[in-house]
Amino acid sequence: GKVAVLLGGNSAEREISLISGRAVLAALQSQGVDAHAFDPAETPVWELRAQGFERAFIALHGRFGEDGTVQGALEALGIPYTGSGVMASALAMDKWRTKLVWLSTGVPTPRYRLLSPGVIAADVIDELGLPLIIKPAREGSSIGVAKVNTAAEFGPALDAALKLDPLVIAEEFVRGRELTAAVLGDMALPLVRIEAPEEGYDYQNKYFTDVVQYHCPSGIAPEAEEAIQQAALRAFQVLGCKGWGRADVILRDDGSFVLLEMNTAPGMTGHSLVPMAARAVGIGFEALCVQLLASAAL
Ligand code: DAL
Ligand code: MG
Repeated sequence: GKVAVLLGGNSAEREISLISGRAVLAALQSQGVDAHAFDPAETPVWELRAQGFERAFIALHGRFGEDGTVQGALEALGIPYTGSGVMASALAMDKWRTKLVWLSTGVPTPRYRLLSPGVIAADVIDELGLPLIIKPAREGSSIGVAKVNTAAEFGPALDAALKLDPLVIAEEFVRGRELTAAVLGDMALPLVRIEAPEEGYDYQNKYFTDVVQYHCPSGIAPEAEEAIQQAALRAFQVLGCKGWGRADVILRDDGSFVLLEMNTAPGMTGHSLVPMAARAVGIGFEALCVQLLASAAL
């Protein structure tokens, strides 16, 4: 039947979703799937039924796409879709509530404070130290994320984050190696290690430059790799995620690690990490897209 690749949308990550979605669309079409692009920012999702779509591949990122809203509409329409359901999508979009679940189930995550507009910078700095990270709770692709190195940088970083989301968190800065753990079905894929210049793994360098190097195999100790994969699987399960996801992780030099977040509609661009991890176990991009589509079920 006819498959809609949902792409674009109206979140701050629209530009990235268009890149992910076009790549997924081309891959599915190359495998003989009757796939078509569908941008919910241009055509309301409830048109999907009238247009004869029978399944949806969600290549939307961020709010109104990755956060349960589109998933709810698809449930109401009775159209099976890829990835997590309504509840897990909504939960994973919210980095604060994700932490609440993880902290209560033993998944390690950086110490944090929820920030309100009038918060006293010195209190937060006393608690979390410097540098610290300020981020909107419900954004992606590093949009609105700032590393605060001095007390003077705190206010502007908070204001910038508040412009994107009334829910903003500060996190302790965890020094270590940056990794990502993709989950495909009920399996954790090999870790990808991200080697970026200082403060370099930002929106621009995630997608549009070649200054970041990616390593898969990750090159970390096998015991650490295994422990992080297990934690990622557990982190995925306790949020109620399904289909696929990607946890972002920092591994400290002492071997301990923290999970920063779970992405439920991970990037599928040429720079993206789930496709790299899948390739390492012999699943090419086309096969990955077909496999994900096959897992779409209500
Ligand atoms: N939010 C971006 C698309 C990612 O997690 O890959
Ligand atoms: Mg994210």
